[in-house]
Amino acid sequence: MTPEENELLCRVEGDAPMGHIMRRHWIAACLSEEVKADGAPVKTRLLGEDLVVFRDSKGRVGVLGEFCAHRRASLLYGRNEECGLRCLYHGWKFDVEGNVLEMASEPEGSNFPGRVKQKAYPAREAGGFVWCFMGPAEEIIEFQPPAFSPTPQCRVSATKVRVRCNWAQVLEGQIDSAHSSSLHSSDMVPAQVDGAKATEENWLRPSTDKAPRFQVERTSYGFRYAAIRRPIQNAETHDYIRTTVYIAPFTALIPPNNVHNVATLLVPEDDVTTMFYFIAWNGPDKPGIDAQTWRKFNVLEWGKDVDRHFNNVRTADNFYQQDRAAMAAGNFTGIKGIPNQDIAMWEGMGPISDRSKERVGVSDIAVNAFRRLMVEAARDVRDGKPAIGTAEPRVRHATISSFEGVVPKATDWRSLGGGSESPRAA
Ligand code: FES
Ligand SMILES: [Fe+2]
Repeated sequence: MTPEENELLCRVEGDAPMGHIMRRHWIAACLSEEVKADGAPVKTRLLGEDLVVFRDSKGRVGVLGEFCAHRRASLLYGRNEECGLRCLYHGWKFDVEGNVLEMASEPEGSNFPGRVKQKAYPAREAGGFVWCFMGPAEEIIEFQPPAFSPTPQCRVSATKVRVRCNWAQVLEGQIDSAHSSSLHSSDMVPAQVDGAKATEENWLRPSTDKAPRFQVERTSYGFRYAAIRRPIQNAETHDYIRTTVYIAPFTALIPPNNVHNVATLLVPEDDVTTMFYFIAWNGPDKPGIDAQTWRKFNVLEWGKDVDRHFNNVRTADNFYQQDRAAMAAGNFTGIKGIPNQDIAMWEGMGPISDRSKERVGVSDIAVNAFRRLMVEAARDVRDGKPAIGTAEPRVRHATISSFEGVVPKATDWRSLGGGSESPRAA
C-alpha cells in the first residue's frame, strides 16, 4: 500500500472519507446493559466525537453530544430524571432527541428554549447494543438488526475492551484466518473432532493444517472468504472449511462452533483508538453461553480484566502480563485470553501501522481484499458516490452468516452459510 492509501483506509475523524462511510451506517454507541432507566449517563466516543448515552424514565435511549449546548459543561455528570438529562451547571434539561425541556437559568416565558437544541443522534436498540446514526438526516438509512441477532429471541453475549490502535489493524485481525493456527494455537487445539467444539478451556478444531488455501467472493456489503484446510480425518475425500464474512464497515462474522456463533464489532473512537466487541450469540438451535461465562473465557471480565471504562489491565506497559515460564512449559504466547493475544499483536504495530513497509504473502489474500475494497470505497465516497453497503436493495444482514465444517471435496464453499451473491452458489 502507498502511504496515501494507508491514510484513506485508517483515518476516520473530521472530514476523512472513511469516517463519512461510517457515518452512513448505524454505529454501535454502547451495550444496552450499560444504560439503565434514570441511571448514570454513559460516555461514548465515536469517530472523534464525545457523546453521552442515557435511558430516560420511559426506557427510551438518547445519544447526545457530551458538552452542554449552554456553556459546554459535561452532561456525564448530569441528573437523569423525569424523562430528561439535566446539566448540573445551570440546570438546563434535554430529552432523548436533544430538545430543551427546561432552562432553569432563563426568565419564564422566554422563547430561548425553542431556539436551542443539544446535539443528538437518532438511536435504536437491537442485539444488545445501542446504535446511532451520525450522518446527515437526509441520508439516514433504514435501521435493521445486526447479523449477530437475526431475531429478537437471540442471546448475545459480548465482551467490550478498548484497543489502543487504529480500527483497520483490528479489523484485519478478524479476517486473517491464518493467524489462529499460530497465535491462538494453545487455545484452539487440533483434535479428533468432526467440527469446531468449544469446551470450558479451549476451542477444538479438526485440523493441524497451518497453511490453508484461501478463496474470496466480493459482495455488495463487503466480502466472504473461505479458508480451506486438510482435516485430520478423511483428508483424501474431505476439506475442512471455515468461512468468514466482512460486512462493511464494522462487522465480521467469524466461523461458529458447536455451542455458539461468533462475531466481532469494531467501533473507532478516533483515528488511534478502537472499541472492540467480541460477540458470542445463539438462536434456539445452539445451547449458547451467558455473558459472564463468555467474558471469563476471554479473560476480559468486567472489574477484573477490564476497568469500568473498559481499559484493559493487560497493556504494552506490563507486556500484557506475558508469562515466559508458561511459554517455556509449552504455552505458545504466555498471554491469557484469545482477544488479549490479538490485542498484543494489534497494539504492538503502533497506533497506525505503516503498511507500505509490509511483505504480504499468499495467506494475506483476505487482508488484501479488505484493503482494496475499503480504499476503493473511500475513494468512491470522496468522489460523491454512495457509501459501500448503503445502496438499495440491500442484503438483509440477518440473512448473512459464516460457516465451519468438514465437507466432501466437491462442495462449493460459496453455497455454505448465508449471504452469497454469486449465481453459482444460488
Ligand atoms: S452549561 Fe449546562 S446548563 Fe449551563
Ligand atoms: Fe485472533
